[in-house]
Amino acid sequence: MRRTITRAGVALLASVWLVAAAQSPAVDPKQADLATAQAAQQLSQPLNNQPVWKEVRSGAQQYTSLPGRETSVLIQPEGQTWRAVRNGQASVYGGWLLVVVVLSIAAYYWRRGSIPLSEPPTGRKVRRFTTGERVIHWATAIAFVALAVSGLVILFGKNVLLPLIGYTLFSWLALLAKNLHNFVGPVFVVCTILMFLAFVRDNVWQQGDAEWIRKGGGLLKGEHVPSHRFNFGEKSWFWFGVVFLGIVVGVSGLVLNFPNFEQTRATMQIANIVHLVAAIVFICLSLGHIYMGTVGVDGALESMRSGYVDETWAKEHHEYWYNDIKAGRIPAGDEAGPPMQHRPA
Ligand code: HEM
Repeated sequence: MRRTITRAGVALLASVWLVAAAQSPAVDPKQADLATAQAAQQLSQPLNNQPVWKEVRSGAQQYTSLPGRETSVLIQPEGQTWRAVRNGQASVYGGWLLVVVVLSIAAYYWRRGSIPLSEPPTGRKVRRFTTGERVIHWATAIAFVALAVSGLVILFGKNVLLPLIGYTLFSWLALLAKNLHNFVGPVFVVCTILMFLAFVRDNVWQQGDAEWIRKGGGLLKGEHVPSHRFNFGEKSWFWFGVVFLGIVVGVSGLVLNFPNFEQTRATMQIANIVHLVAAIVFICLSLGHIYMGTVGVDGALESMRSGYVDETWAKEHHEYWYNDIKAGRIPAGDEAGPPMQHRPA
C-alpha cells in the first residue's frame, strides 16, 4: 500500500513537473546569454545595464503585458532621427528663414516706405468687406498670431528664451504656450474653412492676373497695375497660404493634438516635422501679408478695420473691381449695397 502511494505521489509530482515545464516559456538561449552577461556585468560594473539598453534601443519587440500598438517597443530607434531633424535642420534653417524674411521686409520698407495714393482721396467711401468677412478675417488673424507665437515658443524657446529668462519663467511660458496652442489649433481649423467659404469666390483667375505677374504687381518699380477685388499676390496668399498651408498645418496639427487614435510614434514624428516646416513657411508668408495689410499700403488696414475704402484707393489698387462697382456689375442687393455710398470724410 505504502509503495503504491509513493509511486502515485512520484507520478503526480512528475506529471505536475511535466505540465509546469510545458507551461513555462522556453528559455530563449539568447535571452539566457543576455541574462548571464548582465549578471556578470553587474559584478564588474554595478548598475551598468548596457546590454539591456542595447537590446532596448534596437527597437526589437519585447514582452509586455500592456495592450496597444507599439507597447512592446520601449525605445523606437527612428526617434533619434526625428529629434536630430527637429532640433537640427528644421529649427536651424527655419529660424534663419524667419530672420531673413523679417530683415528683407524691413529693408524693403526702409527702401520703399508705404505705398501712398497718387491722387487725393475723394471722401466717398466704397464698401470693400462685409461685416461677416471682417469678423471671419480677424478671428482667423487672432487665432493665427496666437498659434504662431506659441508655436515659436515651443520650437525655439528652449534655445532662445530659456537662457534669457531662466527656468521658472520659461517653464510657465512653455506651459502657457503649449496649452494655448492645443486649444486654439482646432479653432484655427474652423476659421480656415470659413475663410475659404468667405473669400474663394473672388480668388479665381481673372483678367489682369497675367499682367500683374509680368509686372510683379508693380512692387519693385512702383508702377500701377490694375486688378480685380484681389490682385494675384493676394490670390497666391489665399491659395498657397490660407488654403494649402492651412490644410497642411491643420491636418498635421489635429494628428498631434489628438494622439488617441492609436497613431504610431513614426506617424506623430512625421506629423510634427510636416507641421513645423509648413508652419514656418506659413508664418513667413503671413509676415508679407501683415506688412502689406498694415504699413506697406496706405489705407489697407482701414479696409479690413471698417470695411470701407476711399474711392481713390479702390481706383488705384483694384481698378477693375472699382470699374465693376461703378458699372453696377457687382450684384445689386449684395451687402456691399449700392457701391457709391457717400459718407462724410
Ligand atoms: C495681424 C494679422 C493680419 C493683418 C493686419 C491683416 C490685414 C489684412 C488686410 C488689411 C486685408 C485687406 C486687403 C485688401 O483690402 O485687399 C486682408 C485681407 C485678407 N487677409 Fe489678412 N491680415 C492678417 C492676418 C491674416 C491671416 C492670419 C490670414 C489667414 C490665415 C489672413 C487672410 C486674409 C485673406 C484671405 C484676405 C482677403 C484677400 C484675399 O482673399 O486674397 N489675414 N488682411
